Amino acid sequence: MNTVNYLRISLIDRCNFRCSYCMPEGEEFTYLQAQETLTDDELLGLVQGVFLPLGINRFRLTGGEPLLRKGLVDLVDRLVHLPGVEDVSLTTNAYRLEDMAEDLYRVGLRRINISLDSLDAEVFRKITGRNHWQRVWAGILAAHRVGFDPLKLNVVVLPGVNDHEVVDLAALSLERAWHVRFIEFMPIGNTEYFEQAGWVSSQTLRERLQECFGLTEGSCFGNGPADVFQLPGAKGTVGFISQMSECFCDRCNRVRLSANGVLRPCLLNESGEVDLKMSLRAGMGHAYLRDQVAHLLLLKQDIHFKERNRGTTTGAYARTMSQIGG
Ligand code: GTP
Ligand code: 5AD
Ligand code: SF4
Repeated sequence: MNTVNYLRISLIDRCNFRCSYCMPEGEEFTYLQAQETLTDDELLGLVQGVFLPLGINRFRLTGGEPLLRKGLVDLVDRLVHLPGVEDVSLTTNAYRLEDMAEDLYRVGLRRINISLDSLDAEVFRKITGRNHWQRVWAGILAAHRVGFDPLKLNVVVLPGVNDHEVVDLAALSLERAWHVRFIEFMPIGNTEYFEQAGWVSSQTLRERLQECFGLTEGSCFGNGPADVFQLPGAKGTVGFISQMSECFCDRCNRVRLSANGVLRPCLLNESGEVDLKMSLRAGMGHAYLRDQVAHLLLLKQDIHFKERNRGTTTGAYARTMSQIGG
């Protein structure tokens, strides 16, 4: 059984983009009320009293869009400095990053992953529903300037939409130590769109890049499932996250906490969720919650993508990607 040492924390279920594969424009979303969301104190209490004692000492902050969370810089400051915390990272759409990169770096955040599905402003608008390519690019450059390292760029590859850009996107890793990762489109979020669009395998992309540049094995610090390669002479790397074509559940090291305090053992399988906020607010102590989480970690080995029909109907999830945090 793989050791689970990594928690992805969704800080907020709202997002200011409307990516076609996640929160498409026109669809109605029900958002959490403020009082349903875990407070900073509750969250840090769980980290200190429940997760760290169980050996979970790596944390990724996600959303929705985590930069929309009020007081984020203070929260990161407190999290980074908790004794026992080994790694804190953040996944963002970068809309607010130009303004926030310096403060986040100042309080100790060092790792950042940014969604960038296209280099073409019009394709970007089509995918994200927003005309914000320039602003996102400015955010990426700001993160680079203040020193985020590693800086990873996430590309969800959508057939017929952005797959023709793979070579140009990979080339971003040549001049700067940026890590470009191509993600196979998964049937979560806008599953209707997934049915129409389909997905492109990492193998296909690797062959295309191999032909164009050549590829060698690379390495890049992270806790995630990417297979990492390098273009010859590149300062950065290219990675492939291939959850559709190669099940990597046997090396899964993570669990996920939603903004309303529900702990989930698997991205693609809803079985086994535990409502930590409910226990917490019912007055149960951290020792009780630790037992709940320890139990979930035991169950986790049998809960994964391949088994998802046991926990959900095929691909029909009660929570969206924006609520789970990717
Ligand atoms: P680091 O390697 O630590 O930088 O993290 P990461 O790559 O896990 O983080 P990121 O938030 O950038 O995740 C990238 C994407 O990988 C996610 O959006 C998912 O598409 C995919 N992914 C991450 N974790 C899992 C997982 O547990 N299961 C599956 N199926 N996909 C995952
Ligand atoms: N398939 C694959 N990746 C997805 N993401 C969001 N929805 C999907 C999906 N259906 C990615 C985002 C972001 C990360 C957190 O999750 O692009 O990079
Ligand atoms: Fe882990 Fe589930 Fe993802 Fe597999 S599908 S890697 S078990 S979270």
